[in-house]
Amino acid sequence: MSKLVKVAHTKDLTPGKATAVDVEGNRIAVFNVDGTFYAIDDTCPHAGGPLSEGQVNDCKVTCPWHEADFDLKTGDVLAPPAFEGVKSYKVVVEGNDVKVELKSE
Ligand code: FES
Repeated sequence: MSKLVKVAHTKDLTPGKATAVDVEGNRIAVFNVDGTFYAIDDTCPHAGGPLSEGQVNDCKVTCPWHEADFDLKTGDVLAPPAFEGVKSYKVVVEGNDVKVELKSE
């Protein structure tokens, strides 16, 4: 089972912007990279840095605390000091709503 949860309005998340939202116990970072939306867990697994505040380059975000890199598409870690990736979420845009798919187990 999965459901779509609105996390932002497209006018509030213009290209180059990111935000962090709390959705049902998950803190999720949502990015707009040149019009394409990505969502991954906001909390860096290294020491808890907020990935939504990181520098974005193409499909990569750099943690603002110690500069680990993560793939925005998959959540995979690309560079240390983090050793594990974060969860990634499917993003769907319906009208002006940016929605994230949450899966329930
Ligand atoms: S908290 Fe993200 S790299 Fe250290």
